[in-house]
Amino acid sequence: MKIGVFDSGVGGLSVANAIRQALPNDEVILREDRKHVPYGTRKPAEIFKFVVPIFQELIDSGCQVIVVACNTVTTTLITDLRQKFNVPLIAIEPMVKPAAELSKTHIIAVCATLTTLASPRYAQLKQDYAGSTTVIEPDCSDWAAMIEEERINREAIKRMVEQVLVAGADVIVLACTHYHWIEAEINRLAKGRAVILQPEQATITQLKRELARLG
Ligand code: DGL
Repeated sequence: MKIGVFDSGVGGLSVANAIRQALPNDEVILREDRKHVPYGTRKPAEIFKFVVPIFQELIDSGCQVIVVACNTVTTTLITDLRQKFNVPLIAIEPMVKPAAELSKTHIIAVCATLTTLASPRYAQLKQDYAGSTTVIEPDCSDWAAMIEEERINREAIKRMVEQVLVAGADVIVLACTHYHWIEAEINRLAKGRAVILQPEQATITQLKRELARLG
């Protein structure tokens, strides 16, 4: 089966690597939008115009399913994209539900782009699943660009981790696939004090289900 994976930039590679490892017999076609990355400070209407031709290209090259490996796209546009395209879209979105279920302090941190944090879908996730949980949203607005351009600021990452730990968070959600590349760093800094959640394994489970359905 041909699986399309899309993100604005290097977040997609992290997800594609995980899928390739889990499904070595399937073909994974990764597309990025290096021309317009980062998406996280852009408006949904603008992002829509960028992603439509790329999704079409993935479908034209034979992809039977597309993994939308971009929280910014899914939280703002997944409904419009599902209406427009006829292939199943596997959506990666902020893991608010598992984080709230896992937290013992009832305080979680969600690291995401500004556009994701401002989206109605994210607001809905918080309303549905984090009713009695405090959600901290540290300022990660520069992180996608920082990771994309390989200028990792370890001090900034450390400051963020300390800030959310001091505030009582015991779960940190990586709600931007670019941040998967600094998961190990965050894990090391938070070790024994907070659990880090990112969606790759859950996405693969969902993808396998979809592939079985497609036969
Ligand atoms: N990796 C993307 C996400 O999951 C978007 C990062 C960006 O382009 O700002 O949100």
